[in-house]
Amino acid sequence: MIPKISTLSGYLHEYQKSLANPVGFWSNIAETFYWRKPWTKTLEWDFKDPKVTWFKDGKLNITENIFERHLFLRGNQTALIWEPNNPDEAHRSYTYRELYEEVNKFAGVLRSLGVQKGDRVAIYLPMIPELAIAMLACARIGAIHSIVFAGFSAKALAERNNDAQAKILITADGGYRGNKIIPLKETSDEALQMSQSIEKVIVVKRTGQDVNMDKKRDVWWHDLMKNAPQKAPAEIMDAEDTLFILYTSGSTGKPKGVLHTTGGYMVYAAYTFKNVFQYRPNDIYFCAADIGWITGHSYIIYGPLLEGATTIMFEGIPTYPQPDRYWQIIEKHQVNQFYTSPTAIRALLAQGETWVDKYEMNSLRVLGTVGEPINEEAWHWYHDHVGKGRCPIVDTWWQTETGGIMISPLAGIIPTKPAYATLPLPGIRPVIVDNDGNKIYGKNVEGNLCIEFPWPGMARSLWGNHERYKQAYFSTFPGLYFTGDGVKRDEDGYYRILGRIDDVINVSGHRLGTAEIENALNEHPLVAESAVVGMPHPIKGQGIYAYVVAPDKPDNLDDELRNSLVKAVAKLISPIAKPDQIQFVSGLPKTRSGKIMRRILRKIVEGSTDFGDTSTLTNPEIVEELTEGYRKLNIDDK
Ligand code: WTA
Repeated sequence: MIPKISTLSGYLHEYQKSLANPVGFWSNIAETFYWRKPWTKTLEWDFKDPKVTWFKDGKLNITENIFERHLFLRGNQTALIWEPNNPDEAHRSYTYRELYEEVNKFAGVLRSLGVQKGDRVAIYLPMIPELAIAMLACARIGAIHSIVFAGFSAKALAERNNDAQAKILITADGGYRGNKIIPLKETSDEALQMSQSIEKVIVVKRTGQDVNMDKKRDVWWHDLMKNAPQKAPAEIMDAEDTLFILYTSGSTGKPKGVLHTTGGYMVYAAYTFKNVFQYRPNDIYFCAADIGWITGHSYIIYGPLLEGATTIMFEGIPTYPQPDRYWQIIEKHQVNQFYTSPTAIRALLAQGETWVDKYEMNSLRVLGTVGEPINEEAWHWYHDHVGKGRCPIVDTWWQTETGGIMISPLAGIIPTKPAYATLPLPGIRPVIVDNDGNKIYGKNVEGNLCIEFPWPGMARSLWGNHERYKQAYFSTFPGLYFTGDGVKRDEDGYYRILGRIDDVINVSGHRLGTAEIENALNEHPLVAESAVVGMPHPIKGQGIYAYVVAPDKPDNLDDELRNSLVKAVAKLISPIAKPDQIQFVSGLPKTRSGKIMRRILRKIVEGSTDFGDTSTLTNPEIVEELTEGYRKLNIDDK
């Protein structure tokens, strides 16, 4: 069994142990798993190259650790509860044995289609059980899954499939989301016109809508499963073989295929799940994220199932059909741990207390949040109205690249403080550095958040581009992993995450690169240039503010052009990337080397006029135009 910390002094002791002897610390944890062959060396690392190897030469399959390891004791225990979009439709449950059987069958299907170890399989599915089955089936046969959030556009899907050179695409006819139906097959067909590597498309029937099926290329999931073999032996994987890639936005244009490997990710996802949420046998755990993001990978599927937990996956949205859907699910399934995002909390808070107060939710023991800084008002509301003052909140800071939670309270063990992620997990060594890379020690300090020592769950590379991995994470501050976040350490040594300090914005907990959105805007024939920054937003945390230079735009067409730009971004990236406000400007503030001075653009949308030194601008007069324009558009006209 994975060691579980149960007291504050236990935490301090484990933390010290992990500093003094990281190799001993992590091998003790790793030994609780089922390895086909033990590792020869626990850790080799170099943050310069960078190259990190955990559990060298160890052989395993992560699905044997989910299934074979648990079947004897937990074969009849519920592994997965699926709760549909519409509460009138019945929920579905799978025991460990039933899920094991489905995964085996689909693994056999993939093999029969010629999928081999190391091949990439793209998954573009709504939140239905087949998504969980498909990803685990990939892991069973050593195929690398690349899950693309079902809200992404055809172009975004094609771009990811092309980068990964995916061989198979798994999608559905459509997906339900609130009162909308998302035409996933239609979008997939459009994406397939822009990509060459996909040989077969497997289509799950969910909505039953009419779809085009290409006889040579497209096959129904249910037809394949009818004749599937019952057993698919697990592929024996090296600890450092790739388990999956997951695309995320960076500060430059193209999404990055964050690459996670098998052994280290497994150990880290399971260890952090058990300790942060203080999961106990037979608890019902509900993470409301989407499996299209890392939170769903690590804390709906891998972490909980590795621990033998019962995990809920929810197809819908918190406000459909009414803004009490989460509370209903919690009551219905007697949920013990609930994990969601600050954006969802703020949106539900705005609906008023009555929706939540009518539910008792006595089963709840732990509440979690992730994805963006949580403001104090939302924290207190979550604590008082959802947790009824009884449940500790774990504000978990981590990233797609970290694989699992890095800084967070352990529920009920580390005293919480609103808006603070509190202390690092055992094995995690955060450091704060100034802009010159000097470490800042002591209390009440602020700076760039870096990690100075490897941990098993860290990403090992970016798919097909190790150089970019080095550039993005290990070159800003040589010798350190740079997170891209700003952080403060207070008088208790507690960490508070201040948000991104690079050109990434965090909209409703979704990471979006400003460059990606600018590229989409710039494709419009009337747009010469654009700059996108994050602006404070009461629900989404950050909204998207775009400054657009469109010199040939007819004067009376501002609103038309705004509409068509918003549509273009939704089409080229996703509706989640739509600008909240577009300001037309005659130019952007630029330095002599032609760089846009984004600091000024950010200050304007924060309502500040303290621009600092603007003497290096070639066009300092533009600042007044932008500030005036901002006021007119956002304050005077409102
Ligand atoms: C932000 C999500 C404040 C942060 C798991 C990070 C947070 C980015 C928190 C990663 C938190 C995540 N408090 N900010 N508890 N958790 N973030 O890759 O800026 O989608 O760098 O991973 O979200 O987003 P990603």
